[in-house]
Amino acid sequence: MKTIKKAVIPAAGFGTRFLPITKTIPKEMLPLVDKPNLLYTIEEAVKAGVEDIVLIQGRGKYSIEDFFDVSYELEDQLLKKNKIELLDRIKYLKDYCNIISVRQKEALGLGHAVYSAHHVVGKDPFALLLPDEIMYTAPSTPSVTEQLVLHYNEHSVSTVATMKVEANEVSKYGIIDIDVLDSHRFKVKDVVEKPEPENSPSQYALPGRYVFASEIFDYLKNTKPGKNGEIQLTDGMVQLAQKEGLEAITFKGQRYDTGNKLGYIQANIDYALRHPEIKEDVKAYILKIAKELS
Ligand code: G1P
Repeated sequence: MKTIKKAVIPAAGFGTRFLPITKTIPKEMLPLVDKPNLLYTIEEAVKAGVEDIVLIQGRGKYSIEDFFDVSYELEDQLLKKNKIELLDRIKYLKDYCNIISVRQKEALGLGHAVYSAHHVVGKDPFALLLPDEIMYTAPSTPSVTEQLVLHYNEHSVSTVATMKVEANEVSKYGIIDIDVLDSHRFKVKDVVEKPEPENSPSQYALPGRYVFASEIFDYLKNTKPGKNGEIQLTDGMVQLAQKEGLEAITFKGQRYDTGNKLGYIQANIDYALRHPEIKEDVKAYILKIAKELS
């Protein structure tokens, strides 16, 4: 059986919810403390054994590629000034993984963005990570993508992460219809993109982490525009579930939706509270303003 060495990360959106900053800075480069949020997603994939990252990009996102390239002038300056600790923070990035950029030439939907990777991924199974969703796991535990890869390796079936959401939240997500296999493992029978609560098949949502057999591309190729006139990944997943099999697992980890302002700020606070350099000061500051606000 093939193991997962490739991950696809769609990063082609305009990030309109974060205008004006996203006018010139891709939303994937917005920082969580001192690292671009995309790097956390890439770290999650690399921890799962991924070597090749296929970034689906739109126009004007050159800063992402530059970030994973050598920065000669800066590295030279840091070396000359013997700032080795700072140099170590950037030097590894150029060899951290192979970044392969693919252009999505038209914004036709997530299913279309993922399909844009088919030439590069070929017949290999792959992980798909939506970078708006940041998944924190403790350093000693498997990353969320790693949890999916372990399940894929054990059961040889495409596997997606799922989480239970409130009934009034289902219209924000792809929602799965399931047969329960055990307390954290489900067989996916159907997938509905952003249903109204009254039509939702369950409260189990898709938080943007997937491991797919390459057959998903065959189904995406023929997927017509669906919800909101977009080519939806979930419509391709319905075919995959019904023809090849698809399972969903609940996962261990803390999820942040950094695609909206509140989730982004929450993630920044939590990552600051974990950051060895500033965590004590940040904690003291939060306690101080909490007192002032109450
Ligand atoms: C996309 C997917 C949806 C998934 C969600 C997770 O929607 O279409 O199925 O649940 O990501 O973040 P978006 O949030 O991009 O509209």
